[in-house]
Amino acid sequence: MQDTRHTAARRLAATLGITLAATLLPAFTPIIAHAQAAAGQPAPRQHILLDDGWRFHPGDPAGGSAPYLYDVRPVVTASADGKVADAIPEEAARVARATTPVLKPWILPSGNAFIRDPAHRHARPAAEPAVDAPFARAAFDDSGWRPVTLPHDWAIEGSFLTTGPYGGMGRLKTWGPAWYRRKLDIPLADRGRKIFLDVGGAMSYASVWVNGHLAGGWPYGYNSFRIDLTPWLQPGAVNQLAIRLDNPPESARWYPGAGLYRDVWLTKTAPVHVGQWGVTVTTPEVTKEAARVAWQVALDNEGTAAARATVTTELYALDERGHIAGKAVATAVAPATTVAAGASGTVSGSATVAHPRLWGPPPTQKPQRYALVATVRQDGRVVDRYETPFGIRTVRFDPDRGVVVNGEHIPLRGVNNHHDLGALGAAFNVRAAERQLEIMRAMGANALRMSHNPPDPQLLDLADRMGFLVMDEVFDSWRRKKTPLDFHLIFPDWHEQDLRAMIRRDRNHPSIILWSVGNEVGEQYTGEDGAAVGRELVTIAHEEDATRPATSAMNYAKADMPLPGVVDVISLNYQGTGIRTLPGQFPMFRAAFPHKVILHSESASALSSRGEYQFPVPGVLSASVRPGIGGDPATHQVSAYELFASDFGASADRAFASLDQNPYTAGEFVWTGFDYLGEPTPYYEARSSYSGIVDLAGFPKDRYYLYQSRWRPDLPMVHVLPHWTWPDRVGQVTPVHVFTSGDEAELFVNGKSQGRQKKAPYAYRLRWDYVTYAPGEITVVAYKDGKEWARETVKTAGAPAALQAQADRTALASDGRDLAFVTVRVVDKDGGLAPRAHDRVRFTVEGPGELVATDNGDPTSFESFQSPERAAFNGLLLGIVRTKAGAGGTITVRASGAGLKEAVVTLHSRPAAD
Ligand code: GAL
Repeated sequence: MQDTRHTAARRLAATLGITLAATLLPAFTPIIAHAQAAAGQPAPRQHILLDDGWRFHPGDPAGGSAPYLYDVRPVVTASADGKVADAIPEEAARVARATTPVLKPWILPSGNAFIRDPAHRHARPAAEPAVDAPFARAAFDDSGWRPVTLPHDWAIEGSFLTTGPYGGMGRLKTWGPAWYRRKLDIPLADRGRKIFLDVGGAMSYASVWVNGHLAGGWPYGYNSFRIDLTPWLQPGAVNQLAIRLDNPPESARWYPGAGLYRDVWLTKTAPVHVGQWGVTVTTPEVTKEAARVAWQVALDNEGTAAARATVTTELYALDERGHIAGKAVATAVAPATTVAAGASGTVSGSATVAHPRLWGPPPTQKPQRYALVATVRQDGRVVDRYETPFGIRTVRFDPDRGVVVNGEHIPLRGVNNHHDLGALGAAFNVRAAERQLEIMRAMGANALRMSHNPPDPQLLDLADRMGFLVMDEVFDSWRRKKTPLDFHLIFPDWHEQDLRAMIRRDRNHPSIILWSVGNEVGEQYTGEDGAAVGRELVTIAHEEDATRPATSAMNYAKADMPLPGVVDVISLNYQGTGIRTLPGQFPMFRAAFPHKVILHSESASALSSRGEYQFPVPGVLSASVRPGIGGDPATHQVSAYELFASDFGASADRAFASLDQNPYTAGEFVWTGFDYLGEPTPYYEARSSYSGIVDLAGFPKDRYYLYQSRWRPDLPMVHVLPHWTWPDRVGQVTPVHVFTSGDEAELFVNGKSQGRQKKAPYAYRLRWDYVTYAPGEITVVAYKDGKEWARETVKTAGAPAALQAQADRTALASDGRDLAFVTVRVVDKDGGLAPRAHDRVRFTVEGPGELVATDNGDPTSFESFQSPERAAFNGLLLGIVRTKAGAGGTITVRASGAGLKEAVVTLHSRPAAD
């Protein structure tokens, strides 16, 4: 539904002669709303971005105790308290229920649309909650509160908790209440319309107040939700919205972020309108010649009388940017339907699209899309218009080969990613996410697993547009906990709503090929009881979407246990490499489930710190990190030789071998594409993970080229490690490893050949383990089929002398959202990277832009992401610059450091062309 804005905005803008920005779509909608108001007639549906104009306050009013909880919470004595999961926190009930009001009975009804059995839906209590919440009152004066623009993650602004047991959650304080307030100017003309608040995601336990009344809420911080504001709003007046969030401590195994960290919208409709996420599009028959496109449109009648309505459906091709291109390729008018007052009806239809432009993953296919536009009329008058992008493609899960898209076998070359965007935290930003996907694409990745929760919907739009295959995942825990205050507390009350909400929101994305209902859940261990929970979730997934299989990622379940029996696809984490390497788990699952596809939903969990090479280098293929073997307990850095992994994981090389030895497997999702905040295995003293192929700042580690050598076999490339600046290692053994898409390579040290090597079967790197270091240069020449294929030279660097700066893009949109990622390199006098430089560098920005964050990719750095100055990490650092809304012009970014020649980058910010 969020995509309605794309073409609606364009169409309207064209009529009114307005030029709209092309890339950062959310910014369009206020323009639409404004333009419509100017034309004097509200459009039948308005979708108004509410990201501006908020006031923020951390914490509840001073002096009082917490005004309320969503529900009682268990008392946490220690994070690893060893208690069995207590989904019903009785001990907490005894302690807290008497003293703290609980809002659960008023919040539960917000999920009613996602509860299938009407008997299980929740009635709002007749009385208002007995809660004293001064910050929710309409008359409260918030003028002293800090103005903020959404998406906003308040926790990323904090200082790192450098001591204490906080590594798992990223050493940033994410817990505690926080309030956001905003005025809503609702014109009198809105009387009689429905007005909804659409929240992309709020971390977490949101309660939404309007003019001092509790309107509803949503506990799970990763789902999108809608609150009907209509009963509480006064058209013709300025209304007051207040949202309280209440992240629990110990609620996650990683950094969850905090705040209104995704877009928030106001949606206004007529009483008869397309329901929330109310259009489902499927493509039941697809050939080259023709595709049948089928749809169901849910029509809600929230008026007081029965309504007779017609729905016209048009299908359009979309261009690469998601804009409607040309005339409708099919049109259908359904017979008029009558929907009783307060009821919902469904209008179904189908049409044939001749010579369909199929959606499929590059490089062999194109991610081409269509849009379905449903127009609802009552008495000939348009009362709603709703646009749904979709794709025409077939996806088949073939147990002998894996995933087949439009008849072509596509090995999954995927990555897991958490939702944080590094130094930007959890606050979603389209450009930051797009950059991540571009970096993954250049490595050859074609698939993403949304570990372990529903992503921002715009990330799925990007996956659709760029052609990634997606495994969309809803939960990290079911009834059994992983951390004391995680989702298990509300699983009994909310699993149905959260799972149905995710699937209804996401099911029209062509990128999604597979639903995952869980990750490594404790129910793997609970035999039939656990499998029963899995069966219920898989059944829900099938009810919501009959076109895609459902799975749950398993690290513990064996082939003869109950859980694998209830999922459609066998998703294994580390089994087959790492956990239970012997005997091979893939063959055992293959024998037990010959009709199910097997994929590696988490592979590797290899660990490294970019540019940190440690010696001696063991002659192994894969090893756990131990003191002196790949890991330095003093610095908390992991060696970048890319041979080391978590205890339950394996190096990339070993994971490759395991897939190649079991060719029926569908492929892998590597743990992880990017480093993420929290879970810094093996050094919980640090702030961020070591598992990324790319570091937290977005700089590729050496491993990036190992994946590229396998995933882009046609790209002539060779990569050599380590760097060659070792004044302290002259005369010492310094192994040289090479990743290439060729099949052979020769290494030269200062011109002298160290021998030519060929890749052995199931070997993915070439290694010269006995090279003696001497300053100068190393050159590697790679061959393929006997011919030179690629070469690389690395030289010994001199002392740091200068800074070089480069932006990922220099032409930016002046919309207050677009970003430039400026990479700064510390170089010697000849411009060569100083690979061990840790010089301090300061960023300054002039013109209509601002520095929003800096980073260097060092998992142990406790310098604030907000700091304009920081140390380089092994020669590199990053500054992130954001444009100012409505202020075009030249932005000058300078990087300077003591004794180093300054670097300057010029950016151009202007309204983006359509
Ligand atoms: C897996 C888990 C992931 C992450 C990973 C660390 O077991 O599913 O969420 O914790 O290990 O390598």
